[in-house]
Amino acid sequence: MCGIVGYVGTDQGATDVLLEGLSQLEYRGYDSAGVALADPSIEVHKKAGELSSLESALPESQLGDEPAGIGHTRWSTHGAPSDANAHPHTDELERVAVVHNGIIGNYQELRDELTTAGIEFDSETDTEVIPHLIGSFLEQGQTNAEAFRSAIDRVEGSYAIAAVFEGDETVYAARNESPLVLGLGENGYYLASDVPAFIEYTDRVIYLDDGEFARLTPDRVVVTDDTGDVVDTTIETIAWDSEETGKSGYDHYMLKEIHEQPTALRQCLRGRLEELSGGVSLENIDEMDWNPPIRLVACGTSYHAAAFAARLFRDWGVPAQAFLASEFTATEIPLSADSLVVGVTQSGETADTMRALREANRAGSTTLAVTNVVGSSAARTCDEVLYIRAGPEIGVAATKTFASQQVALMLLAAELSNHRSRELIRELRTVPDQVQAVLDNSRAKEIATEYRNADAYFFIGRKHHRPVALEGALKMKEITYKHAEGFAAGELKHGPLALVSEKTPVFAVVTGDGPIAEKTIGNVKEVEARDTPVIAVTDGVSDVGRYADHVLEVPPSTGITSAITANVQLQLVSYWVANELGRSIDKPRHLAKSVTVE
Ligand code: G6P
Repeated sequence: MCGIVGYVGTDQGATDVLLEGLSQLEYRGYDSAGVALADPSIEVHKKAGELSSLESALPESQLGDEPAGIGHTRWSTHGAPSDANAHPHTDELERVAVVHNGIIGNYQELRDELTTAGIEFDSETDTEVIPHLIGSFLEQGQTNAEAFRSAIDRVEGSYAIAAVFEGDETVYAARNESPLVLGLGENGYYLASDVPAFIEYTDRVIYLDDGEFARLTPDRVVVTDDTGDVVDTTIETIAWDSEETGKSGYDHYMLKEIHEQPTALRQCLRGRLEELSGGVSLENIDEMDWNPPIRLVACGTSYHAAAFAARLFRDWGVPAQAFLASEFTATEIPLSADSLVVGVTQSGETADTMRALREANRAGSTTLAVTNVVGSSAARTCDEVLYIRAGPEIGVAATKTFASQQVALMLLAAELSNHRSRELIRELRTVPDQVQAVLDNSRAKEIATEYRNADAYFFIGRKHHRPVALEGALKMKEITYKHAEGFAAGELKHGPLALVSEKTPVFAVVTGDGPIAEKTIGNVKEVEARDTPVIAVTDGVSDVGRYADHVLEVPPSTGITSAITANVQLQLVSYWVANELGRSIDKPRHLAKSVTVE
């Protein structure tokens, strides 16, 4: 949550780089934005609202060739979205400007101390203590670098912080438990919460570790550890090109990313299927030390992927359980040295998931990150990593990362349970084409038009389709702001049935024609008998279509891969309802893609 960006260099003026970078980071928060330029005095411009409000408020003359600057896009934690609470924040004499992502745990204590010393605060944010602390160390005669480090030493909590000082062509930065990555350009250096902020300029990056500091000047980058010693950093090359982060002609990133799913899934599967043996091959995973049961920890959409995977593990003989990361504590769920804890997190930065993984590490368990982001906190905190390889996802509502998590976790379940099946491998191989077929033929738009004014939307599914029902409902509420709920199909009659009416369409996921399908069809009949519209998401193998008002088709498959294709239909329904309602699809109100507070 919150995106930060910084630039120093001779390539171009800092303002353009910062605004462009912030536009790529808006998925991290978008309730206010600001920049500070060191030119050579500190110039701060900040505004409540989306980045466009800041852009319109910037004076033309500002768009010059400033040598250094920092920027911020905010997701409020301390204080409402307002101009005053927007970052950057400065000390009273405007010698330093600071942007921050994370939470300062001891901010109240620091604020009290600074207030007693006579300092007046302009905002309600926790962040503002940092520039005032820096200012107080400057008063004591410390250099900019010393004052920055002294201030950070006083701060507890999670943070990625960047600062610029008057008359100093340097960007100072520090990281603890919030992401920060440096970009190395030809004639300039960048820093940001995430790579898309500067991928247009460079693909050479250094990921900062917790406790590290960075100093970016026009001719070099120096990274130091918490004792001030210079760190021998590793430069990594990012395998994306900047095209991947554009909208490619789609109205919204979400629609583009829904359509990118066949490619994302092919990337996820590449080199990991063994046709002849019917097994899978996952780099490093077969050497991992672990014993059952497996605990999966995750939040939001990723939790639905984790719940899908837990069932699969159990089906294939390995005890496994999915936990909401925010509910998981190592004291309640005893972990031993040979336990395996799998963190499922597309961003690799979610605070709840990271806390759970750190607790698991402390308990001595083996930890595995299933993530999309190379070099993310999860990737670096866990013993092993399984990358889902979905490519950059900008839309706040997760779509292609969910499908890629489902596939990556299927591979993981097959590997760890030693489940070998040529049929499974064949089916996995065809999933990208199945998803393409859904995208090419979906009637989701018509259904969305018909039901766009519904009072609420319900989603039901059994076994592997229960997480699909939960995810269908989550997507609907995230982007349409309408009430939506997902249930295990069998639970409908235990309460939720009281809510159904002709204004509450029920989406039922039913594939195959076995006993599971039979039971869900029974639930469909219960709904239909109450004059409630039913939309069956089905492969047409059973006769559920007879009882439904509409059918959304998915290709015939086992119950497992239909959990992927059925979800694509539901993604499209949510997208088109939100589109009909004119919602802010890529940036839904109050949400952010990467939630780095607990
Ligand atoms: C936020 C996002 C959700 C996401 C969840 C977990 O709430 O808005 O879309 O599912 O975080 O994110 P993660 O990066 O851990 O998968």
